[in-house]
This record gives sequence, C-alpha cells and structure tokens, in this order.
Amino acid sequence: MNFHILTLFPDMVEQGLNTSIIGRAKDRGLLSIEAVNIRDYAFNKHQSVDDYPYGGGAGMLMQAEPIYQCYKAVCEKAGISLDDPQAKRPRVVYLSPQGETFSQKMAEELAGEEELVLLCGHYEGVDERVLEEIVTDYVSIGDYVLTGGELPAMVMVDAISRLVPGVLHNDVSAEFESFQDNLLEYPQYSRPETWHGKQVPPILLSGHHANIEKWRREQSIIRTAQKRPDLLKEAVLTEKERKFLDE
Ligand code: ADE
Repeated sequence: MNFHILTLFPDMVEQGLNTSIIGRAKDRGLLSIEAVNIRDYAFNKHQSVDDYPYGGGAGMLMQAEPIYQCYKAVCEKAGISLDDPQAKRPRVVYLSPQGETFSQKMAEELAGEEELVLLCGHYEGVDERVLEEIVTDYVSIGDYVLTGGELPAMVMVDAISRLVPGVLHNDVSAEFESFQDNLLEYPQYSRPETWHGKQVPPILLSGHHANIEKWRREQSIIRTAQKRPDLLKEAVLTEKERKFLDE
C-alpha cells in the first residue's frame, strides 16, 4: 500500500512514521510512505502557499493551486493521468475537524486501497475549491482542534498500516483486539505470577484453552459494559450473552 501525505511539514511526518513496526514494514517493502512538500509546488518566487481570505477575517488560507499541483504530481508518479477521464483516481482524505470521525471500521475499509492520498491543512484552512475538486473523504480524529492535519494523518497511517497483511509479526496479533466485534480487549498478564501482591487470574494458569477463551470473552463483554457501554449496541453477542448483561 502506498501513502502519499501532502503537507507543509514533511520532516514531521517522515520522522514520526519511521520507527518501530511501521518503519520496519517500510524497510520490508510492504508499505511506502511518501511525504510531499506542498511548498515545492508554490508558483511564485517567494514560495508562499497561503494568502488572505476574500471577505476578510483572521488568518491565512492555503491556496488552491500549489495543493492541486502537488496532488497532480503524486498522481502522475503513481501512473495516474488527470487528463484521462477513464483513469481511476486515488482516494484523497482531507484531515479536518469537520470530517467523519475516524474509526477501526474506516481503517479496515481504507486498508484495501492501493494508493491513499492524505491532505494536511494548516493556517486557518484551505481554499474550498481545491477541496471540492480533489477530496473524496473528510476525516476527523476527534472533537478537538489541532494546529494542522499532520498528527491526524500519522494516526490514520498507523491504524491502517497495521492492517496491511504482513505488517504485524505473529506475536503482535491483530486477530483479537479492541473493537473486534465492537468489544474491548480482555485484560492480559505476563510474568511474574504475583506482582505487588496481585495474582494472575488462576484460570490463565490452568492450561485449559476452552475455559480460557470463555473467560476472555466474558471479560471483554464486562469491560465493554463498564468502559464503553455505547459500543455494546453494535456488538455481536449471543442471546445468552445479552441476557448475562441484562442481569
Ligand atoms: N485538523 C485539525 N484538527 C483536526 C482533527 N481533530 N482531526 C483531523 N484533522 C484536524
């Protein structure tokens, strides 16, 4: 999968995504993450990419043309000509607090794309016309306002990348984890058996796999009911499990 991040701060994005699991997946050729500097596509000699908003108001706006040229260059590099009406254009996500809230479901859906463009806004926003022309998805990472789209883009790249086949090692399984079936993950324990007077639940030491699985499932349901009851509405539960919750 190829991520193309259009940004005024490519160093921030590249450094942030070069470590640990994502960095290794890049080295192994499972992912490519390219941060493209929008400023390289400025069309005036001062290399400015922002201007005052028509109608007045505080702050500066990112102009349409540098963003469009940057997007065009990324498409051409990926073998997509914008002059060809038949060519399948990549999905372009604009990171904005006005977007749909990012979720595991959205990450799963986007992990199926071959190319994904992420556009990071800055200053007081972006000229609406370029958004209308290139953006396919508006995504927010939560109800708060950040200074730019870089951190949200990094959050998205991380969450999507770990779903790309081969990115996670066997010992860091994505098979059961929080949000699978809309349930939170069960509690986990490692050595020693007693720490600060706290014991590992005895069932986990029993070696009885069926009972362990049953206990884990129950713990997931209990945790979700306690911490995120809103998720339970969408959770996939058996009739017996629903009854257990109602008691
Ligand atoms: N840009 C600024 N704040 C943001 C947020 N919460 N989510 C996505 N992009 C943003």
